[in-house]
Amino acid sequence: SLPVLNDMFGRFHNYLRISVTEKCNLRCQYCMPEEGIDLTANEKLLTTDEIIRVARIFVQQGVDKIRLTGGEPTVRRDIIDLVRGLDGLRPLGLRKIAMTTNGIALRRKLPLLREAGLDGLNISLDTRDPLKFEVFTRRRGCEQVLRAIDEAGKLGFDFVKVNVVVMRGQNDDEVPAFIEMTHDDSIDVRFIEYMPFDGNRWGKQKLVGYQELLDKLRPLYGDNIEQLPLEDNHTSKGYRIKGYRGQFGFITSMTKSFCSSCNRVRVLADGNLKVCLFGNTEVSLRDLLRAGASDSDVVETISQAIKRKKQAHAGLDTRHTKLTHVDDAGNAHMVDV
Ligand code: GTP
Ligand code: 5AD
Ligand code: SF4
Repeated sequence: SLPVLNDMFGRFHNYLRISVTEKCNLRCQYCMPEEGIDLTANEKLLTTDEIIRVARIFVQQGVDKIRLTGGEPTVRRDIIDLVRGLDGLRPLGLRKIAMTTNGIALRRKLPLLREAGLDGLNISLDTRDPLKFEVFTRRRGCEQVLRAIDEAGKLGFDFVKVNVVVMRGQNDDEVPAFIEMTHDDSIDVRFIEYMPFDGNRWGKQKLVGYQELLDKLRPLYGDNIEQLPLEDNHTSKGYRIKGYRGQFGFITSMTKSFCSSCNRVRVLADGNLKVCLFGNTEVSLRDLLRAGASDSDVVETISQAIKRKKQAHAGLDTRHTKLTHVDDAGNAHMVDV
């Protein structure tokens, strides 16, 4: 029979994303309403011990990379202990521990996170302009995030990436300025195509596809734009400007999806398992754990959920988008976006 983390389309899931809290200290327009979201009651969230147990079970099946996400992971009080707990799974095969953060409450925690075993950071920053930052996030903090990016660079993390969600008319003019950040710093700036989620008022007018961005860069950089080889299970198509220390890239979820090489599986803060970003939750691992399940019961449940994973994210087939066909490479192509 197929290995636990293999699906029916030959994809092996060695990358676990764990949401460690639903809370966030920002209110990004494309993510949350001003009033925030309904939070799950505390007793229904996974405890740190439960998270570590679930992580261990995944690592024992072959997961070698874990990313902590949220909400905003740094608002979880025991985030350092959590990272330390994950660090203890390295002898079982875990190789990479990363975090995706908005950087607001990050700088003070950076040294301890590094010591606890965090390998790298993806820091979200959609604009370098403090006033625009307030429009994007409904909060202040642009300078704090820029300082956190700087500081992370100095602390010797294996990688620091900057995530920029590009929205037409709002920050698309800042793409070259973000690329210039890679001149002196060995960071990876990734421009992300704006995706529709429930209630985020997505509209195709706001989506800027990566081809358009690349076309605009050609006159600025000409032959100095160098395309980098695609990494295994990439979300980002990488480029660099010759002579620059860092690199940049495009996360093309909308105009050229990458489902065929997806290796990601998610555990939400409430213990629900999701096998696709755009899919529904499959099963509550929390309920299973709290009913006294053995490791092998949990393994069996995970295996079944992964076997139900679809070939491509049909979840995009909503009022906004039509999924027309899935090509040989498993890429979903859309029209009428
Ligand atoms: P790396 O491990 O550094 O490659 O990070 P990542 O790109 O997987 O994760 P990150 O949290 O930095 O997310 C960057 C963007 O990629 C966000 O907009 C995510 O929503 C998007 N993303 C992450 N995972 C998936 C996925 O499985 N499918 C799609 N379509 N987008 C994803
Ligand atoms: N489209 C694209 N990226 C998004 N993110 C959050 N919402 C969206 C969306 N609708 C990004 C955040 C962060 C990462 C985890 O996902 O900016 O960088
Ligand atoms: Fe959402 Fe992340 Fe913005 Fe918080 S920082 S509101 S989780 S996109």
